[in-house]
Amino acid sequence: EASRSLGARIRERFEDVVILGIGGSSLGAKAVASALGGGLRNLLPKERRGGPRLFFPDNSDPATFRELLSLLSPDETCFLAITKSGGTAETLSQLAIAQAWLGERTREQVIAITDPEKGSLRKIAEAEGWESLPVPPPVGGRFSVLTAVGLLPLAAAGFDVAALCEGADEMRKRCEEPDPRKNPAALLAAALYAYDRRGKKIHVLFPYADALRDLGAWYVQLWAESLGKTEEVGPTPLAAVGATDQHSLLQLLMEGPKDKVVAFVTVEDRGEKLGIPTWHAEDPALGYLAGKTLGELIDAEAAGTQAALEAAGRPTLNLRLPRIDARSVGELLFLWEAATAIAGPLFGVDPFDQPGVEASKKITQGLLGRPGFEAHRTALEGRAPDDSAWILG
Ligand code: PA5
Repeated sequence: EASRSLGARIRERFEDVVILGIGGSSLGAKAVASALGGGLRNLLPKERRGGPRLFFPDNSDPATFRELLSLLSPDETCFLAITKSGGTAETLSQLAIAQAWLGERTREQVIAITDPEKGSLRKIAEAEGWESLPVPPPVGGRFSVLTAVGLLPLAAAGFDVAALCEGADEMRKRCEEPDPRKNPAALLAAALYAYDRRGKKIHVLFPYADALRDLGAWYVQLWAESLGKTEEVGPTPLAAVGATDQHSLLQLLMEGPKDKVVAFVTVEDRGEKLGIPTWHAEDPALGYLAGKTLGELIDAEAAGTQAALEAAGRPTLNLRLPRIDARSVGELLFLWEAATAIAGPLFGVDPFDQPGVEASKKITQGLLGRPGFEAHRTALEGRAPDDSAWILG
């Protein structure tokens, strides 16, 4: 409710909203915004968009952030600084740049979403008098899209967060079913685990919809960071999009090593039909398409690809959405989150931690001179700068 009312205020007041966050503090909202708004939403006029443009710079690449700020107006831009730990370097660096860019507008135009008590961003938000929302402490970053981390950006953009949560709640009830054969999350986790044990260690998510392209990045993070924890087990997630990847990854999926299982996501109702006109119907490459719709083409491509993979002895499964709307996307998100939580113990790992990401952070902080982290620079000592680099140009 707090996300909805604050989101409504942001929607009224601002033209643009920039989400400063990375990993689980960005990927979920981005996936839902793309699913519900489509990849071209920011190009639509405001009345068709239903709210401010949303930007997810995410990375610490200066080229993107510089260019983004050059496109925005400081009077019309709100920044949502999202970091559960409160100390993530990428997010805090972008925030430092953003507050300098906003100047005295900062107090009204930055909102913090972070731990209710701990961390640097919590302290900064209090010192600066910024509005803030809490990230519930027990919820890890990559499981946080259905908290303020995802809901505030989505509400600010005008998406139906109530329906998103209803869908998730509906799936939560189904996933509480004690009989694993009737529990969709248990079935998904068990199927992927069983395939993994039979050597299918690459788990491909293959939605046939552009709107679900960013869901792939969210899934990759969820599956990799949650399950990649020991040398013996840990599936490798891979994201594809149909039909585009029929002209790219499909060759590998069809004839490469038999180490993959492919989870299709298909859509029953694709909305308004877009017919393919009868044109050069005498040409065999066009004749059979005349009078069909683009939706029929992509659906046939999904069905054809799944059948071809199965015929080639490559396992697949299919998650079918009635349509891409807030409710079904909420269901899909919860399904994968619950499946991940169940898969962790099956693989014998804790799905909720990520100890492996710490080493590189410490060396980075040592390199940048953070007091107390000097010792971590030794990881690079004795290595010539081009030890592992191929120098081009
Ligand atoms: O899932 C996770 O815990 C991570 O991917 C985090 O979301 C990511 O590292 C960002 O962390 P934070 O929200 O603390 O800035």
